Amino acid sequence: MDEDDSNSEQHQSPELTKETFHVAGKDLQIYKAPKFDSGVSGTFLTGQSLWPSAKVLALYLTLIAETVKSACGVLELGSGPGLVGLTAARLAADTDGKVILTDHEERVLQITRMNIAANFPSQPDTPRCAHLSWGENVEEFRKQHGQFDLILGSDVVYKEDAIPQLFQTVGTLLSLNDSSSFLLAYDTRGGWLDEHVDRHSEQAGLEREDIALADIPACRQLLGSIEWDYPLNTNLRLIKFTKKGER
Ligand SMILES: C[S@@+](CC[C@H](N)C(=O)[O-])C[C@H]1O[C@@H](n2cnc3c(N)ncnc32)[C@H](O)[C@@H]1O
Repeated sequence: MDEDDSNSEQHQSPELTKETFHVAGKDLQIYKAPKFDSGVSGTFLTGQSLWPSAKVLALYLTLIAETVKSACGVLELGSGPGLVGLTAARLAADTDGKVILTDHEERVLQITRMNIAANFPSQPDTPRCAHLSWGENVEEFRKQHGQFDLILGSDVVYKEDAIPQLFQTVGTLLSLNDSSSFLLAYDTRGGWLDEHVDRHSEQAGLEREDIALADIPACRQLLGSIEWDYPLNTNLRLIKFTKKGER
């Protein structure tokens, strides 16, 4: 996935800028609010911005494009602007609405929908967008949408008290096929989150495998080029979780 920073421009609301990525031979345009700005309608929401973990996870998806294509159902949790889910939708191209992007903030979902419309104008394979708050009505969501072979989350572990609900949601919605996985990328913020991630994922019946980003040249290069515009530790962790159990 190539990224073209020179293509930033103002769109509709003056607070939103556009960043263009290149996925599977096509542009992918992502509208987003600047970080720590007042936001689209007064109060800044983290999901209105695009975070470094999303760029890294989106790039990683392009490296495992065959897995994305063959997945029966792809779900993004805490999508924000939706770079990760929309990258998956680009890679999955020929499948009918199998990608669903979710968030719990309506003002965030407005930006997600804008990005879906900007990149998938009235195509039969348009990714879908839905409200999903971790740990709430997850059974109902499963009855409505089924389970997913691939669940994606970028920078969705930053509030300690939401981590159990996040993994409970993954435990309910991840299918038990051989190739099913939950890919999570997050800024470790100095490492204090790692223990919570490890413990709560185990409690939700998930096995984890850390993916060494530094060993993947394209990811290493991207990490080196990201401009970190917030004062946090800049160590990203990418984990592949699978469900424990008999298959
Ligand atoms: C830091 S932003 C990351 C946005 C995007 N994934 C990215 O990496 O650019 C965290 C996202 O998680 C969403 N979120 C936080 N808590 C949530 C919850 N309990 N249920 C659903 N979404 C949640 C927020 O609304 C926000 O969109």
